[in-house]
Amino acid sequence: MDAAAKKKVWGRDTLAGDPHARGDKARRVRAMFASIAGSYDLNNRLHAFGMDQRWRRVAVGMAAVTPGERVVDVACGTGDLAIALARTLPAAAADGGPSVIGVDFTFAMLPLAEGKSSGDAAAAAYAAGDALRLPLPDACCEAVTIAFGLRNVADPSAAVAEFARVLKPGGRLVVLEFVEPRNPLIRWGNAAYTRGLMPLTATALSGDRSGAYRYLPKSVATFLGTAGVAALYERHGFGGHRSRAMNLGTVDCHAGTLGR
Ligand SMILES: C[S@@+](CC[C@H](N)C(=O)[O-])C[C@H]1O[C@@H](n2cnc3c(N)ncnc32)[C@H](O)[C@@H]1O
Repeated sequence: MDAAAKKKVWGRDTLAGDPHARGDKARRVRAMFASIAGSYDLNNRLHAFGMDQRWRRVAVGMAAVTPGERVVDVACGTGDLAIALARTLPAAAADGGPSVIGVDFTFAMLPLAEGKSSGDAAAAAYAAGDALRLPLPDACCEAVTIAFGLRNVADPSAAVAEFARVLKPGGRLVVLEFVEPRNPLIRWGNAAYTRGLMPLTATALSGDRSGAYRYLPKSVATFLGTAGVAALYERHGFGGHRSRAMNLGTVDCHAGTLGR
């Protein structure tokens, strides 16, 4: 963890407006994730009541990757989605390269992902890289997945354009993301949890000083939402868009196919 990661990254001032509109969003997001990498999995499991792995399994199903194909899991973090994908695939794709490539721009995340990717998850390989400039050639994979990552990139539209670049024609894009629930009662309960209780317990558990668990609900409330993500699919040439709402409408899993 670098020294900057121990300091406050998101405070009252920086979260007063829209965090997505900040010119320094990428730097802050990276420092924040470097700060919480070590406790990231534990906080996820506890605060999603173990459901987060189920949402990732839905994303694996919607990516529909078959042996011989390659999937790039962008913003892979500690590797949970890359590992779930790897468990369904042989180590090598048809061209002899890895079946699953996880990419993340927070260096502290990658050794954690690598350490978890042995045995039946050995198909996953990892690389440092930015979602906006993936360190991969054009048309190199059949699927791109991104779980709880699109909201965190500085320019989600440019990221989806980049995903289209690395996908082969007919390739699939799967986006798993939090969303504000539409039902007013669920919205009220979700806000009480994500803005009231969760930041206290998650911050205490991780010893976090970055403000990560205040940024989380604010970044969801100010993000695109179901229709906004669907519009990105359309704008960048993905057809057949569909989305599945989960967890009382607080999580969406989107899928679509390039050029169809
Ligand atoms: C909430 S975590 C999600 C991790 C993982 N996908 C999961 O399901 O747990 C978001 C991740 O996105 C990464 N990230 C944010 N912006 C990125 C970018 N521009 N390029 C690559 N990774 C990025 C962060 O470093 C962090 O690891």
